Amino acid sequence: MTKNHKLAKWLELRIPYDAKGRNSIVEASCQEYLKQRQQLKILDLGAGTGANCRYYLSKISQDQEWFLVEQNQELLEIAFDRLIVWAEENGYDSQLQNLTLVLNNQVDKITIHRIVGSILDLENLIDLNTFDLAVANAVFDLFSENQFQTLLECLKKYQLSLLATLNYTGTNFIPQTEEDSNFIKYYDQHMQRLQDFGRGMGPDCGSSMWEAMKGIGMKGLQGESPWEISSDDPVFLQLLLGFMEESIPEILEEATLQDQLNTWLLKKRHMIDQNQLSCNIAHQDFWGYWE
Ligand SMILES: C[S@@+](CC[C@H](N)C(=O)[O-])C[C@H]1O[C@@H](n2cnc3c(N)ncnc32)[C@H](O)[C@@H]1O
Repeated sequence: MTKNHKLAKWLELRIPYDAKGRNSIVEASCQEYLKQRQQLKILDLGAGTGANCRYYLSKISQDQEWFLVEQNQELLEIAFDRLIVWAEENGYDSQLQNLTLVLNNQVDKITIHRIVGSILDLENLIDLNTFDLAVANAVFDLFSENQFQTLLECLKKYQLSLLATLNYTGTNFIPQTEEDSNFIKYYDQHMQRLQDFGRGMGPDCGSSMWEAMKGIGMKGLQGESPWEISSDDPVFLQLLLGFMEESIPEILEEATLQDQLNTWLLKKRHMIDQNQLSCNIAHQDFWGYWE
């Protein structure tokens, strides 16, 4: 399986957890703000395989025009395949015209464009003048504070509101063991390791994003959007441990810690096999608009 197909599989598996976790007050506040508009033109930033767009499609009653912005072209191609399946399952005819997908039923029209490029280069990719909203799911914990600030400055220029959901803020295993906090700390530190763009906000994104939004004059709302992963979902729990297993060694300096990590992972995997481990992952949702 290629790296992109593995990522696409993960993005699909997280959909029910995202759906359950999304903060209903934050979402309702955004819907209330947009309800008077006849049609909606929406940017999905870091669209991946289109899960976020698919989530909102049936929640919006107006005609919709979407622009999926994603740096990974293959994920966007998968996104269109999945949107076509979604259309079939939801009673829409679909027509693919090059980089645009048009979905129609007797009442509604949905147009979806795909754009390969960076969220940080939005102005050069699209004319931002006529948009109603930007959404982003599970994206900004990957961004540095500076990158998020750059995006906010761009949104401010076009008075574009933002609904940013499922931004990671922390992990908790249940039951907890003494070593958990150590390895969760390494996992979180890995998200904040130095990369070519700086350090990702990782688990600090909750406070950093909120400060940045207030600082630039955005009004809005912040709320929790937790995942509660029960011991009945060993596949998902094993995948989570897999991310830890891949990432933590990149920042471990001592070999002895690698041995401790292996022992810890082994114990956790054993508990998962016995249906004795569950996990809570904390996230935050943000709704921001301009007055
Ligand atoms: C965790 S995935 C979430 C995908 C999708 N929003 C979802 O909910 O399934 C994060 C996505 O953001 C994309 N991404 C990260 N930084 C980006 C950037 N600067 N410009 C465009 N896409 C970006 C990644 O390629 C990845 O597909």
